[in-house]
Amino acid sequence: MPKLRVRKHELICPREVVLDVKEGDNLCEVLLQNEINIEHACEMSRACTTCHVILRSGYNSIEAPEEDEEDLLDRAWGLEAESRLSCQVTVGNEDLEIEIPKYTLNHARE
Ligand code: FES
Repeated sequence: MPKLRVRKHELICPREVVLDVKEGDNLCEVLLQNEINIEHACEMSRACTTCHVILRSGYNSIEAPEEDEEDLLDRAWGLEAESRLSCQVTVGNEDLEIEIPKYTLNHARE
């Protein structure tokens, strides 16, 4: 069973945590189910960037982003090469380590 390590975030995750996850889990849902209240302004409909996370390990174990996601990520605060929208990430069969960026830009569309 893969593990998900969530690095410390001042507001959202005041202590680093390690969670058991299952292959096929949605990353954003796992965070919310574990009281890591990451923003998800568009309710996971791939229309904002508020659920942005940076994969510090395990990036290559998840499916590549679709073009729509990449276009949105271009507007995310603190974009890095391993950035993803957590609501679009399905956990693979390897451990993941994520960092939640310090800030978000709320790009939710009406
Ligand atoms: S919650 Fe809006 S794109 Fe993930």
